[in-house]
Amino acid sequence: MNLLVTGGAGFIGSNFIHYMFDKYKEEIKIVNIDNLTYAGNLENLRGIESKQNYFFVRGDICDKELIFNIIEQYSIDTIINFAAESHVDRSISDPSIFIKTNVMGTLSLLEAAKDKNIKKFVQISTDEVYGSLGEDGYFTEETPLAPNSPYSASKASADLLVRSYHETYGMNINITRCSNNYGPYHFPEKLIPLMITNALENKVLPVYGDGLNVRDWLHVSDHASAIDLVMRNGESGEVYNIGGHNERRNIDIVQLILENLDRPKTLIKYVEDRKGHDRRYAIDPTKLITKLGWNPNYTFDIGIKETIKWYLDNEDWWRRIKSGEYIEYYKNQYENSLI
Ligand code: NAD
Ligand code: TYD
Repeated sequence: MNLLVTGGAGFIGSNFIHYMFDKYKEEIKIVNIDNLTYAGNLENLRGIESKQNYFFVRGDICDKELIFNIIEQYSIDTIINFAAESHVDRSISDPSIFIKTNVMGTLSLLEAAKDKNIKKFVQISTDEVYGSLGEDGYFTEETPLAPNSPYSASKASADLLVRSYHETYGMNINITRCSNNYGPYHFPEKLIPLMITNALENKVLPVYGDGLNVRDWLHVSDHASAIDLVMRNGESGEVYNIGGHNERRNIDIVQLILENLDRPKTLIKYVEDRKGHDRRYAIDPTKLITKLGWNPNYTFDIGIKETIKWYLDNEDWWRRIKSGEYIEYYKNQYENSLI
């Protein structure tokens, strides 16, 4: 397997690269293309860079010529597209980069893949393309797309382009739609790492709206194992939902983190709600389980404890991030909400 992983310096891409080298050792070659936006961090790939069968290219997925050359130079047979702008709140303040990277970037990868007859193209999408659920029910692969944020709209657009390359050009594609991930190397602007690191710094924990929005959490290594299965055994043209039936209300997650870190609930502050805030996500993973034999390894209780410990053990990693460009974003995002 000669893989081109895009966005491999981000949260899920880097965890996927770790997972693949742990599992396949010398049997694979991985080329990672990442243009290192604020969310890309080569420290996430500690221990990987020295491998003979790993190559890093700093570059933009929108650069079709570059992708074309990488495919040729490294005899790439499979592309797994993680690269994206991934934070909903940023998409609400400034959607245009989301369209450029998530839509135009995917198009450029598809074009290069078509020209070079790539064997498999896996698009890493999200359950957010389905929109929001009420109290009951689950997202299946047949649920109509109804994205509500500029982020999810850009991901849904990319999914439709990927689908069209299967229908029109017969490209061997899969689309995966996973629920919210958590685990090591998660950028501290997203709920779980933000709350853990703020609690450790005795800072306010900003909870949007009434805190009762529900997300379905999956450990990032279980996401990686699912992608590996889909990449190898997924049927051409098929979509696979990924999730482990682990729905939690935001406020319960925040309280659990505080309890684990022995910090007071008084740190919680309810702040202005996110615009267009999706109420509930919940994945039905039956297709992935029955067709490809996937099962998650982690229970949430174990996964969240391990994750909290990872942030305690890797203070340097997140402190370096929190002292950089992120500070400006944080000030703007929570300007009127936090003291
Ligand atoms: P992330 O923001 O942590 O990482 C994204 C990576 O892509 C970064 O390393 C960034 O530098 C890189 N990148 C951005 N624009 C690029 C460009 N133009 N060219 C090359 N590289 C570029 O995101 P993540 O949380 O790791 O998400 C990865 C993928 O998984 C995304 O496509 C996202 O939509 C999807 N996803 C995320 C979750 C989640 O809970 N985080 C859940 C389901 C699906
Ligand atoms: P997030 O981690 O941004 O993931 P997504 O919006 O893609 O699901 O947010 C998860 C949930 O946590 C979402 O309902 C919004 C909420 N949230 C807060 O309440 N406070 C925060 O500071 C953040 C970042 C998120």
